[in-house]
Amino acid sequence: MKQGLEIIDSIQKKQNVTLEKLRFLLETQDKEVLEYLKHLASQTTLAIYDNHIYIRGLIEFTNICKNDCLYCGIRKSNTNAERYRLTKEDILSCCHTGYELGFRTFVLQGGEDGYFTDELICNIVSSVKKQHPDCAVTLSIGEKTFESYQKYFDAGADRYLLRHETANEAHYQTLHPSELSLENRKRCLRDLKDIGYQTGCGFMVGSPNQTIETLYEDLQFIRDLQPQMVGIGPFIPHKDTPFAAKPAGTLDRTLRLLSVIRLIHPHVLLPATTALGTIHPQGRELGILSGANVVMPNLSPSQVRKKYMLYNDKISSGEESAEGLKDLKQRMESIGYQVVVARGDYK
Ligand code: 5AD
Repeated sequence: MKQGLEIIDSIQKKQNVTLEKLRFLLETQDKEVLEYLKHLASQTTLAIYDNHIYIRGLIEFTNICKNDCLYCGIRKSNTNAERYRLTKEDILSCCHTGYELGFRTFVLQGGEDGYFTDELICNIVSSVKKQHPDCAVTLSIGEKTFESYQKYFDAGADRYLLRHETANEAHYQTLHPSELSLENRKRCLRDLKDIGYQTGCGFMVGSPNQTIETLYEDLQFIRDLQPQMVGIGPFIPHKDTPFAAKPAGTLDRTLRLLSVIRLIHPHVLLPATTALGTIHPQGRELGILSGANVVMPNLSPSQVRKKYMLYNDKISSGEESAEGLKDLKQRMESIGYQVVVARGDYK
């Protein structure tokens, strides 16, 4: 058998990748090897999750953030961002709409906004769970203490998304202000897992200063943490950030990494992210065909969507939106997959 194909088989068998194998897979231009990578990754997903695509209704409930991450459009020092907060009633109304459409997971995502105290978050979480006991609630609200995470969990939160962004210390420092540390980020992820959340980490593909070596560290971090979810999407510059002039991550590299993540961590819930849909009109479908099995359409009220601008030209309508669900279903069917009405827990 050809050497490139053997490399892919060995990654699948060992559920691990070496730096040299990763370099080979990210650099090869051999079409047959790349087809085989996709093939094995998507077969792996099909064997565990069938052809089912899980959908998550994303509610971006505040774009106010105390952090100043260099890549992010809603960073504190971006005075051009028009800030907003949704009320608890707004959030519940989004969930109601989403439930009718067939969503059984709601992702409450926001900046690190002190207005939303632990008490308020718990109140919102328990209200959503009370109205929709058959649904999962995912929080994505940043770094908190163990005690806060425990309170949200006790209030009914099932899952938590917190991308680690990069597992390399020096790289982490180039993406974040000095108040933030990789050490605390990792502490948060461990706490979340210990408490019992289905936990998601992840990173941007092609973030400034990322190398194959730092990506290798990301993959080792994933192997070590064993998260239930991994979110990756291309870095896309935002015009009002220090990284405005940096090049975006590529579709091709993101797809290759989705496949590698599927092979080294077969059961992971792996979204074809909004950023992937933003850089290519068929990004979502290509992501699924590379091993992803989750899509997260936007359920936020339409008047605030343009304000949650993490990066330039972030999509929020069409197949990306909850109203565009019919289109999303058709797109998934056209590639042999079906959108299901289910919580879509980790298997
Ligand atoms: N490009 C792509 N993804 C971004 N995120 C933040 N800013 C950008 C950007 N410019 C991602 C981060 C964060 C998630 C909510 O959005 O990885 O964790």
